[in-house]
Amino acid sequence: MLVLTDAELKLLQALVYQECGMHFDERRTHFLQDRLQRRLKECRLDSFYSYYRLLISGQGKNELTQLVENLTVNETSFFRNKAQLDLFQREILDEVIHRKQARRDYNLRIWSAGCSTGQEPYTIAMLVADSMAYYYMRNALPMESPIPKPLIPPPWRVEILASDISYSVLRAAQEGSYNEHQMAMVDYSFRLRYFDKIGDRYVVKKAVKDLVHFDFHNLKTEYLPQRNDVIFCRNVMMYFDEPEQKRLVEKFYRCLNSQGYLFVGHAESLLGLTESFQMVHHRSGTGYQRVEVKA
Ligand SMILES: C[S@@+](CC[C@H](N)C(=O)[O-])C[C@H]1O[C@@H](n2cnc3c(N)ncnc32)[C@H](O)[C@@H]1O
Repeated sequence: MLVLTDAELKLLQALVYQECGMHFDERRTHFLQDRLQRRLKECRLDSFYSYYRLLISGQGKNELTQLVENLTVNETSFFRNKAQLDLFQREILDEVIHRKQARRDYNLRIWSAGCSTGQEPYTIAMLVADSMAYYYMRNALPMESPIPKPLIPPPWRVEILASDISYSVLRAAQEGSYNEHQMAMVDYSFRLRYFDKIGDRYVVKKAVKDLVHFDFHNLKTEYLPQRNDVIFCRNVMMYFDEPEQKRLVEKFYRCLNSQGYLFVGHAESLLGLTESFQMVHHRSGTGYQRVEVKA
């Protein structure tokens, strides 16, 4: 096994940070070292310094993408953090639908930033479809719905943008095919309505897939998707250091429509990072709403 010197480690840490915002402190150096070792072997190089030289060279772009893919942690599940999703569905979606309808704005845009293999955006799609149906069971529809009823009642247009920095998770997400183990948190009523059983796998129905648009976005960059009503960025920021988290939260502020909402992971918080959001709380679910600057 090749030895990674402190100087080489610093160079590679800085390069990864600059590329994608991921910060490898002492607790995670071991992981970084292990993944670097694998890439070095794959590239048949004999020193970390020559690997670094490759990464910064004109031909190194693909290898840098490969390295970043190898460094991401893609753990996810359907209906992750149920209390937070209840807050989103029962309180926030109702409020957003009501507020937008009053303005005759029938576009709802939700962004799952760091969507991994798709369980998060598909969960959001199922919750939105149910919420819309229930809202219009209690309130008059703005226009007649065709028969058979579409998943989203017209004139509403729902777009769930799901993005990640890893092409391989985006490919899996687009397929939307899950095994029994991955379906553990999906109860039978959701399975029946929103999945097709093909062999021993559960495949997300086309009508649900049609609501979700997958794309590559690196959260480190300045050009991120705008005009969102809600952003989910859960269990992503925890791999960034504080200055990068602060930058990201300010970017999210600009990517949200006024009065928009941001959800972060269970182990993450905006406390001490920003004054631009206020906490919203319901039962044990937590989210954040954009604070509007008074003119
Ligand atoms: C632990 S998963 C979280 C998945 C999902 N949000 C959830 O909470 O279940 C983190 C995801 O963030 C992605 N990620 C990490 N750094 C990123 C960056 N700079 N830009 C975009 N996505 C990133 C990883 O590829 C990974 O799929």
